[in-house]
Amino acid sequence: MAKMTPRMKELFEKVGAVALGTSTLDGRPNVVPVGAKKIIDDETVLISDQFLNKTLANMKANPQVTLTYWEGHEGYQLKGSVTIETQGKRYEETAQWIEQLGAKAGFPLKSKGAVILKIEEIYGVAPGPGAGKQLA
Ligand SMILES: Cc1cc2nc3c(=O)[nH]c(=O)nc-3n(C[C@H](O)[C@H](O)[C@H](O)COP(=O)(O)O)c2cc1C
Repeated sequence: MAKMTPRMKELFEKVGAVALGTSTLDGRPNVVPVGAKKIIDDETVLISDQFLNKTLANMKANPQVTLTYWEGHEGYQLKGSVTIETQGKRYEETAQWIEQLGAKAGFPLKSKGAVILKIEEIYGVAPGPGAGKQLA
């Protein structure tokens, strides 16, 4: 497992959306934006699935994912594996959070699942001499 630093967590929460990359078992890549994201702890983040299609199919077949986020020239790449929860406390809390988000936005939103990413590696993506360096 790899731990996010306070700064990595701060930026994760600040950005509006992150890029979630998955792939099929035979290696066809897929990247989508996701904005419904939360930090669970230093080595775990949660994404709510409302609209994921190819991404969901990929994660079911191949739980290895990558998630990248940035602001300006600062950014981080998380890699790890996911589990998908469609029942239980964490899912119920996510469903409630997403329903409230939808109510605020003025259109109904429904979470189909809580995608839990256990972070195994963290890299920097800032351009420059340390580009791509593993940070944790
Ligand atoms: C800014 C932005 C944020 C988004 N956030 C989410 C999200 O948090 N959860 C979700 O399920 N879909 C979200 N979406 C929608 C998915 O990215 C979109 O449905 C995508 O087409 C899914 O593609 P896929 O079939 O490759 O999985 C978001 C889209 C945008 C543009």
